[in-house]
Amino acid sequence: MTKLTVQALQWTGNALKVLDQRQLPETVAYDMYDDAAGVTEAIATMRVRGAPAIGIAAAYGVVLSAYRHYHASPDDWRDKVVVDMAMLAQSRPTAVNLFTALATMGQALNASTGNPLADLLACAERIHADDVSANHRMGELGADVIGQVKGILTHCNTGALATGGYGTALGVIRSVAGRQTVAVYAGETRPWLQGARLTVWELAQEGIPVTLIADSAAAWLMKSGAVDWVVVGADRIAANGDTANKIGTYALAVLARQHGVKFMVVAPTTTIDWGIQSGAEIEIEQRDARELLPACYHAPESLISAWNPVFDVTPAALVTAIVTERGVVLEPSETTMGNLR
Ligand code: MRU
Repeated sequence: MTKLTVQALQWTGNALKVLDQRQLPETVAYDMYDDAAGVTEAIATMRVRGAPAIGIAAAYGVVLSAYRHYHASPDDWRDKVVVDMAMLAQSRPTAVNLFTALATMGQALNASTGNPLADLLACAERIHADDVSANHRMGELGADVIGQVKGILTHCNTGALATGGYGTALGVIRSVAGRQTVAVYAGETRPWLQGARLTVWELAQEGIPVTLIADSAAAWLMKSGAVDWVVVGADRIAANGDTANKIGTYALAVLARQHGVKFMVVAPTTTIDWGIQSGAEIEIEQRDARELLPACYHAPESLISAWNPVFDVTPAALVTAIVTERGVVLEPSETTMGNLR
């Protein structure tokens, strides 16, 4: 397996070490968390972000909760862990991996009879390891689908920083770059700049050349013929293939259709929400207007506000392929997605 040079999350034995993504690329700084409240805050404030990484962090948050309450409250420690799980679930609404991971940890909590702390840690480590192996598998599958390619445009950050390691869309790009020369373009991803601050940094760490574009340059880049594929990740995929991902993804899919560029979504099956029929049911996170507004407009009496949805939904009809670790779905629909169940 490829050596991982960038790691968003590391379990130290009694704490979760989190690479603070708010400070990248200027500063590589880590925070240590030893309780679920800290992990909840780290997710809500986007020190850790990206759908799979959020789920993995929450799983370790449950382990930390159990470590804390097991000895302090021997009679009702499980109840206290359940309260912490509800708190973790409130950290962010859109990425379904958070809820999938918490559900898996909840099952482990209920099923454990012997050594619950060891069982919960094993479960969190399995969620983490499964994500890394899913990413490697998707990297190969996605690169097979893409075949010979001149250029790929990606959006947001979907790499090791956003996952357990290797990445989803960025994992595919990594696998393609391992097979051939490819021009990789990354959109800035306003307003939080996951592309400009994280993706280009991460690719450079991995030795892969990348060209940054302003999000508003995407149409013109496609018109130039420089890219054959747009490759993105996902935060939640509905049973019909509609895909919620970072704001701006939908715009790229519309542009790709207009320019004859193919559009790939790469996500592990933990990102599929089989409980919803279409993207209309996905809650779209709205973040603080101050993330968008220049500081001089932050005063409460200011007449200038901001609308700051941080995800959008791309209809399945605009997607060429969804790549998961269980296989590739071409022309996703309720029927073709059923092959992944
Ligand atoms: O707000 P973020 O940075 O958590 O949003 C992340 C994304 O939208 C990613 O594209 C998605 O989670 C896939 S990450 C493998």
